[in-house]
Amino acid sequence: MKSIEFSFGDEMIPQQTILETAEKLKPEIRNTANAISQVYENDLASLCLPDDKRMLAKVRQAIDENTQLKPVYLIIDGIGGSNLGTIAVLEAVLGKLYNQMTTATKVLYVDTVDSDSVNDIIMLVKPVLEEGGNIVLNVISKSGTTTETIANAEVLIDSLRRHKKDYKKCISVTSDKGSELWNIAVKEGFNVLEIPKKVGGRFSVFSPVGLFPLGLLGINIEQLLDGAANMKKACLDTDIKRNPAAISAAIQYLHYKSGKNISDLFVFANDLESLGKWCRQLMAESLGKEFNKKGETVNVGITPVVSIGSTDLHSMAQLYLGGPYDKFTTFLSVEKSNSRIVVPTLKLYSKLVHGIQGKSLESIMGAIVEGTKAAFRKGRRPFIEVKLPCKSEYPIGQFLQFKMMETIYLGYLLGVNPFDQPNVESYKEETRKILKK
Ligand code: PA5
Repeated sequence: MKSIEFSFGDEMIPQQTILETAEKLKPEIRNTANAISQVYENDLASLCLPDDKRMLAKVRQAIDENTQLKPVYLIIDGIGGSNLGTIAVLEAVLGKLYNQMTTATKVLYVDTVDSDSVNDIIMLVKPVLEEGGNIVLNVISKSGTTTETIANAEVLIDSLRRHKKDYKKCISVTSDKGSELWNIAVKEGFNVLEIPKKVGGRFSVFSPVGLFPLGLLGINIEQLLDGAANMKKACLDTDIKRNPAAISAAIQYLHYKSGKNISDLFVFANDLESLGKWCRQLMAESLGKEFNKKGETVNVGITPVVSIGSTDLHSMAQLYLGGPYDKFTTFLSVEKSNSRIVVPTLKLYSKLVHGIQGKSLESIMGAIVEGTKAAFRKGRRPFIEVKLPCKSEYPIGQFLQFKMMETIYLGYLLGVNPFDQPNVESYKEETRKILKK
């Protein structure tokens, strides 16, 4: 299986300084390895997921049962950590236009409480139900108390109930065992899928949160997990030079400390945009903290942004290359596309842009990536590059795991707890108070 590749060297920090900072991570790397051996007992529980064969077997069984329903649509009702990972993998592997291309189950997402979007989904699904077809509704909420997810679930379950006698078999609930939502689902006779207690939302893509909907839509979840397991091993290496998450965390930390508090993930593939958004949540929610682990006020955080290449070169590059020196960039490129399209050699057009006729779009994109990197080097704008061999499950699993471990190590260097989100909870709490009035 081809692996992702890391290119360091353009980060514009002396190698020795990077290694000294990365060395500081050694205790945390040992602690992480030790924590994993205590299977699902602590905050690092998400790292047990790639090797959990029992969980995988249960998810497979649920996928097989739901596949038999031959659903026309899978509706995923969840928000933040409960849907971003799924969208990221689906779009990367199957493409953004999956619904338009497939003859199999299509996917619909409901996350926020946008009346018109939810109504559109109800209208799309209605004729299917009226004709006796099936859909699967997957309600995903770890806490089981997220306002948006529950409001949408109530609306969608009601709509299903009105159209389908045996609607209960179409509903799967993914939650913490014993949450209020879990208990209601059991009472109602819905299918239930358990999220291990210590696995947090944004670290849950390799749990039933991601695996069930992904598998139902035909993603090879075994290969996704294999990629993750392989990367986990690499990112637990105490030979620091060979540990990509430790090196990358050290580089980002050093740049943050010297005033580069914006981290741009520049993805050179349209289908990776949602992967970028998953990374954005991971970094923002895990590292943006008011207090450090000692309880002191620190207000730290790196602001993550996502750019799409080459589209955003025509939108953001002026700022990136001419604006303040406050950004660090990670270029994410793909070596091999799923298709090969060549620009035709028509004489009439040959003078418009030189050097493109007869070339594949992939090689033109490659030239743009190299050109962008050269411009960044010239402008003394620091970057690293991660190359995916292709957009299939194994390297995507590797990348997701790399980012989670990089985030955990960055949390250690910044002295904050990457697993909580107290300020998100505060908005949830305030909203509940207002709605109760
Ligand atoms: O990463 C997180 O913890 C959050 O983004 C949650 O996933 C998000 O708030 C949704 O929470 P829940 O799954 O409890 O509905």
